[in-house]
Amino acid sequence: MRRVGSGAGFGMMGMMARRSLLVGFGGYLPDRIVTNDELAARLETSDEWIRARTGITQRHIAGPHDTAVSMAAAAGARALDYAGMAAADVGAIIVATSTPDQAFPSTAVRVQAELGLRGGFGFDIAAACSGFVYALSMADSLIRSGQVDSVLVIGSEVYSRILDWSDRGTCVLFGDGAGAVLLKAADGPEPGDTRPKGILSTHLHSDGSTGDLLYVDGAIGLRESSGFLRMRGRDVFRHAVAKLSSSVDEVLHANGLTYADVNWLVPHQANLRIIEGVARKLELPPERVVVTVDRHANTSAASIPLAMNEAVRDGRIRPGDLVLMEALGGGLTWGSALARM
Ligand code: COA
Repeated sequence: MRRVGSGAGFGMMGMMARRSLLVGFGGYLPDRIVTNDELAARLETSDEWIRARTGITQRHIAGPHDTAVSMAAAAGARALDYAGMAAADVGAIIVATSTPDQAFPSTAVRVQAELGLRGGFGFDIAAACSGFVYALSMADSLIRSGQVDSVLVIGSEVYSRILDWSDRGTCVLFGDGAGAVLLKAADGPEPGDTRPKGILSTHLHSDGSTGDLLYVDGAIGLRESSGFLRMRGRDVFRHAVAKLSSSVDEVLHANGLTYADVNWLVPHQANLRIIEGVARKLELPPERVVVTVDRHANTSAASIPLAMNEAVRDGRIRPGDLVLMEALGGGLTWGSALARM
């Protein structure tokens, strides 16, 4: 393994493990807010139905000038600003998105250019609503292996452009936005450190046999492409409850931790009922769960970093807190991550 950095953490017992600290947070939401009532004015739905089934009251919708790249770059710049890090010091950019502006170049390299960064590298990850957990996992691996010292991990989505606005079963559920977390390498932990900081572990899963439960029916390369999101909502709900439940057990078990050790649940924000189900399983009171789905709806890969950004900046999540992240999305893909702030 290539050594990176000063080497200060490499003790007599051999090279110490590297880990990824979460040092920067940023978010971007389009200005335009669409309320449930506004949707109910043009669709056969109601504010009461949407609130009761999902917890959603409104969503932000991209304006003509908002793109996956522009929103990702804005969120990324804010994460760098939070950490006081210059863009030139970023080793890699990973953007999780299912709604890129172009097939290529990747969203990440466009963001690289927007941020004025000439070095390092960037690439996109497509794992639908699990995209941020997947990207975090890849970023953590790049840091642990010594390839880079910092990674800007971004989720950016414009689902408004792949929604069938005449399908009340899906269009009420989603919103647009971007969130970013900056990871920075650190050496350690020191022997005997029982509360090491940074990403403790990540766990990814997918099952392609369930690919038709939630998908977009077109893409570049398919001739008859309408490119709309399609979903069997009830089946997805059932899978979400079961798979997220086993995911939170998996990540805690892997770290020898229990429900009682978790300070914050920062879940993917698809549906308040799914979030509350996982929180109940973890025996976490509502005030320990970061919820944005009421105001943002489901922003797919952007939802976890947007929630994280909000709760770090308003002082809820504090240094030393143990944060559990989990997500499920089209694929189906799902996964979890545990981090000490
Ligand atoms: N407004 C009013 N009625 C609606 C509606 C809407 N926006 N959307 C669907 N309905 C109707 C359906 O047509 C159906 O009517 P019917 O009984 O006359 O056929 C009825 O409500 C029940 O539909 P169903 O889909 O069974 O409702 P549900 O209780 O499962 O709730 C979801 C629907 C989509 C809210 C729910 O299944 C869900 O949240 N699933 C998970 C979706 C998700 O999170 N996806 C993203 C994962 S990343």
